[in-house]
Amino acid sequence: MISRRYFIKKNAVAAAGISIGLTSQIKALAPIKEIIKFPSGFDFGVSTSAYQIEGAWNEDLKGESIWDRWSHNNDHVKVTGDVACDHYHLFKQDFELLRQLNVSTYRLSISWTRIFPDGFGEPNQKGLAYYAEILSLLKRNNIKAIVTLNHWDLPQKLQNIGGWANREVAYHFADYAKLCFQNFGNDVAFWGTHNEPWVVAFMGYFIGTHPPGIKDISTALLCTHHLLLGHGLAVKEYRSQNLKGKIGITLDYSYNIPETQSRADIDAASRLNEKHHPWFADPIFFGKYPEKIWNWYKSKGIVMPKIKVGDMQIINSPVDYLGLNYYNTDTVTHNAAGWWPYETNTLKNKRSQFQCFEMQPEGLFAVLKNLHTRYQGIDIVITENGYNDDNDAVDFHGEVIDNQRIAYIYAHLKACKQAMDEGVNLKGYCVWTLMDSYEWGEWSRMGLVHTDFKTLRRTIKKSGYWYANGIKSGFSL
Ligand code: GCO
Repeated sequence: MISRRYFIKKNAVAAAGISIGLTSQIKALAPIKEIIKFPSGFDFGVSTSAYQIEGAWNEDLKGESIWDRWSHNNDHVKVTGDVACDHYHLFKQDFELLRQLNVSTYRLSISWTRIFPDGFGEPNQKGLAYYAEILSLLKRNNIKAIVTLNHWDLPQKLQNIGGWANREVAYHFADYAKLCFQNFGNDVAFWGTHNEPWVVAFMGYFIGTHPPGIKDISTALLCTHHLLLGHGLAVKEYRSQNLKGKIGITLDYSYNIPETQSRADIDAASRLNEKHHPWFADPIFFGKYPEKIWNWYKSKGIVMPKIKVGDMQIINSPVDYLGLNYYNTDTVTHNAAGWWPYETNTLKNKRSQFQCFEMQPEGLFAVLKNLHTRYQGIDIVITENGYNDDNDAVDFHGEVIDNQRIAYIYAHLKACKQAMDEGVNLKGYCVWTLMDSYEWGEWSRMGLVHTDFKTLRRTIKKSGYWYANGIKSGFSL
C-alpha cells in the first residue's frame, strides 16, 4: 500500500493548489526569530479523524466501513485501524491531553458507520450516545468542536452500490448529516462536510491506492461531482435547521509552482493546481467548475460528469468558512510523457530541509493570500498542518525531544500571522495531529503526543508543551 504522503514523494505527483498567482515565485519569508502573538479570539487546536484513532472497528453495533474492508486485505495494507489508538475506550484520558495542550478547539470526525451501520436506515443509538458524550465533554471544557462528517470512512454497504460513483450516495450523505445536525447541532461550532474530497475521489477511483481501488479517471470525476452534491445538500439541510454554528468543507492544499518561467511549465503547474483545489472550491463559491482544466480533460478524450439541472445551484449554497489542509509545496515541469492526463513531472523539492517533510511556509502564505483574493475574503480555518518524524521516541528521561516539529509549526504560524497582517481572514489553526496515529495503511508520528503503538501509552512531546505555552504567551523559538 502506498500512503498519500509517500505517494506524493515517490511518484512526484503534486498535491494541490489554485490557479492564480502561479507565475509569481514564492518569496522566502525572512527567518527572523520573534515572539508571534495572535489576536484574542483566534482558535488554536489539534486535529484527528475517527478511523485513525478510535479503533473498536466493530463494537457497539458499528457497521463496516470501506477502510475496515480495505485494511483487512493484506494485499492492500500491512496495518489496520482495528485498534488504532483505542481512543474509543480511552477518550476520557485523551481529553486530559487536550486540556494540557491548552487548545481552544478540537477537530474530530464522526464515523458514519457508528451512526448508520448500513449507511442509512435505522440509526444506532450507541453511536449517537458516544459522540454526544464526547461533544458534551468538549463543551464542558470550553473547547470548540470542529466536526468533519466524512473523513473517508464511507459505509461499505454504500460502496456495494457503487460508492461515490452512485448519485444516491450524495443523498444518503445528506440524511446522515441531517441526523448529526439534529443530535449535535448545539454542541458543534464548525461543521465540515468532507475532508479532502480530492483524495476520496482520486486516490480511491483513479490512482486506486485507497478504497475502493478503482483506476478510472472518468469515475473519479463523477465522484467529485457527487461529493460536491452531497456537500451542497448537507449545507442546505444545515441552514434549514437554523443552528448557531458554521459550516464549510476542508480541502487539501499543497502548492505547485513552475520550475521555470516557460509557458509550458507555468501551464503545467496551473493544471495541477486547478485539478485539485479550485475544482472543488469554484463550484462551491462560483457555481461552476474551472474551465481550463475541464477543457483539458475533454481534450484528452475523458468522459466528463453529466451535471443535472439544479446541481450547481445546490453546490453553490453559501458556506461560512473554508477549511485548509496544507503541508508542503511542489515544483513541477511540463512533460508530455509525464503523469497522464496532466503531462507533468514533479521535481524533488530543492527547498527540502528536513528528513521527513519539506518545510515551505512560503507556500502556506501564498495559498492563504490566493484564497483570500479568489474567494473574496472568505473566513479560513487551517484544519491541518503538521510534521511527520518516524524517529520520534521517548528517551531515557521519559521525554520526546522533537525540535524539528517545533521549527516547522513556528515557521507556519509565522506565515499565518503575516497573511493575517495582510488582511487574510484566518480564524484558527489546528496542528495535525493530537497523537501519533494510524495513517491509512501504516503508523505515523505526526502527533504533539507520542503514542507507543504496542502499549498505547501516551507521552506529551516537547512540541506539545511548546504549543501549550505558545497558545498562552505567544510562540517563540
Ligand atoms: C490527510 C488527512 C489526514 C492525514 C494527515 C497526514 O490529509 O491525508 O486529512 O487524515 O492523516 O494529513 O498525512
